[in-house]
Amino acid sequence: MIITAVIAYFMGNISPAILIGKLHGIDIRKEGSGNAGTTNVLRVLGKKAAVATLLIDIFKGVFAVLLGKLAAAYLLSPEYAPYMVMTCGLAVFCGHIWPVAFGFKGGKGVATAFGILMAISPFLGLTELGIVVATVLISRMVSLGSVVAAIAFPFIVNYYDPRYLGWGLLMALIVLYKHNTNISRLVKGEESKISFKK
Ligand code: G3P
Repeated sequence: MIITAVIAYFMGNISPAILIGKLHGIDIRKEGSGNAGTTNVLRVLGKKAAVATLLIDIFKGVFAVLLGKLAAAYLLSPEYAPYMVMTCGLAVFCGHIWPVAFGFKGGKGVATAFGILMAISPFLGLTELGIVVATVLISRMVSLGSVVAAIAFPFIVNYYDPRYLGWGLLMALIVLYKHNTNISRLVKGEESKISFKK
């Protein structure tokens, strides 16, 4: 269990935003909002780089959960699957947000969380995606979509399977904590809106 969690944590350390930024000769964490994530890559480097960032961040979440499921199936027993999934999901999520490889300064975890949820259950992933997309289409603020989805998440995950409630609360609180500067900008009406023109 510990080894799979450590592997998942280091999968989370693979930060496409930071690596693609380096390829462009910048540190994405010193540009735009300072976040190593898709929205900031879109803001600073444009659409292609943002799509690459989004896909890699999503897939590392997917792979970490699959690793947890495989470990439960082959090394433990199938009834441990939810606990392995939660452990590996939380580990890849923390690895993305606090990567030891990049001085513990990573992203805010939203795309990776989406990958984690899709691999646990498309119901969870698609419900959360629907909330983000609807909020962003209305407001054009990705952070607002992330915050609304984080607030809704414990209710949705509890409906899906109450065993995931504590884990869901922790994930939601981490996302909200990582969005604290966005939340203050949202409250002041100063949050930046996305544009797809670049
Ligand atoms: O997922 C991150 C998004 O919610 C906000 O990103 O760059 O606007 O802080 P950013």
